[in-house]
This record gives sequence, C-alpha cells and structure tokens, in this order.
Amino acid sequence: MRIDILTIFPEMINDFFRSSILKRAQENNLSEIYCHNIRDYSKNKHKKVDDYSFGGAAGMVMTIQPIADLIDKLKSERDYDEIIYVTPDGEQFNQKMANSLSLCKNIIILCGHYKGIDQRIRDIYITKEISIGDYVLTGGELAAAVISDAIIRLVPGVLSDETSALTDSFQDGLLAPPVYTRPADYKGHKVPEVLLSGNQKLIDEWNEEQAFIKTKKIRKDLLT
Ligand code: 6GU
Repeated sequence: MRIDILTIFPEMINDFFRSSILKRAQENNLSEIYCHNIRDYSKNKHKKVDDYSFGGAAGMVMTIQPIADLIDKLKSERDYDEIIYVTPDGEQFNQKMANSLSLCKNIIILCGHYKGIDQRIRDIYITKEISIGDYVLTGGELAAAVISDAIIRLVPGVLSDETSALTDSFQDGLLAPPVYTRPADYKGHKVPEVLLSGNQKLIDEWNEEQAFIKTKKIRKDLLT
C-alpha cells in the first residue's frame, strides 16, 4: 500500500518512517510512504502557506492553493481510496478503522497546522476526517504517523508470525493478557505456574481469562 503524507514539516516524521518495522515494510515493497512538503507547492513569492481568517477569529488558516495543487498532482498520477484530513474535530481513530484502511491501495493523509485548513479543502477533497484522541496537538504530523503505523503493521507480510497482529489488544475486542519471559523467578516474583505447565489448552484458557479480567478492570466500555 502507498501512503502520501502532506505536511509543512516533513522532517518531523520522515525519520520515523525510516526506522524499525516500517523501514523493513518499505524495503520489502509492502508499503511506500512519501512525505510531501506543502510549502514546495506555494505560488506565493514568499512561499507562504497560511493567511488571516475571514471573520477575524484568532490564528492563521492554511490556504487552499498549495494544498489543492499538491492533491491535484497526486490524483492525476493514481487513484486514491481515501483522502484523509487529520484533525482534532474528526472521527476518533480505532482498530476497526485501522483494519479497514489497511485494505486500501493508495491513501493521502493531510496534516493541518495553525487554526486549521480552509474549509473548502475539506469540502472539495477530503473523504475522511480522523482524530487520534480527545486532546490537541500542535499539528497533524504525529497523528499521521500514528495512523500510518497502525495501518501498515496490518498489511499482510509486514509482521512475522511472532509479532502477529491477530493477538493484539483490541483485535478481538479485549485488551491483551500479560506476558512473561525468563527468568521464571525474579527475586521471588514468580511467573504464573500455568504458563510453565506446557498444557496449551490450560494456557489458552488462562490468557483468555486474564484478558477479560484486565478489560473489565480498566476498559469496561469495551465489554458492552
Ligand atoms: Cl489529528 N491533530 C491535532 N492537531 N491534534 C489532535 C489530533 C489531530 N488528534 C488528536 N489531537
């Protein structure tokens, strides 16, 4: 899958995509991620990308021209399944959205700054508006990185069997159970006996039960 990220701060997230699992996904041609600098498309002589808001509200608004030209260029090169705007007033991101976006071939993620982007960009181009939670960030870049990470790790082949997404928290509607590794006894803090038993049926039942207990304790809303 291909993700095009549109931002005025490409350096903020470029390095993120060049590390770890996301790097390997790109090297293995399972994903392509391109960060485009919106400023490069500004026709303003000072490369301006924002202006005062009509109506006099405080804060600058990102202008239509550079964003529209950049999206038009990308759309002329390939078809996009979704053109996403990341914004605190969007629909809240969750695993279900990640699952469905991971089936896309090409998506654009537009990052806003200042007081946001001209509403007409949203009206004309945007097919989906996503927030990553009820708090405000300085810009959409971290949200774009979060969403891209959650999506790409679901693309078949990106994770090995060992890191399989199938046992993630949320994938079955429950939080993941606790996990342990060696030593079996750390200064008297012991690994639960059942995990050392070798009885896979008992272990599966224990994991299920623990996932349920944990979910009930800290995320009761997931059980209803
Ligand atoms: Cl997508 N952008 C910004 N600026 N803040 C956020 C957000 C997005 N999601 C939650 N807070």
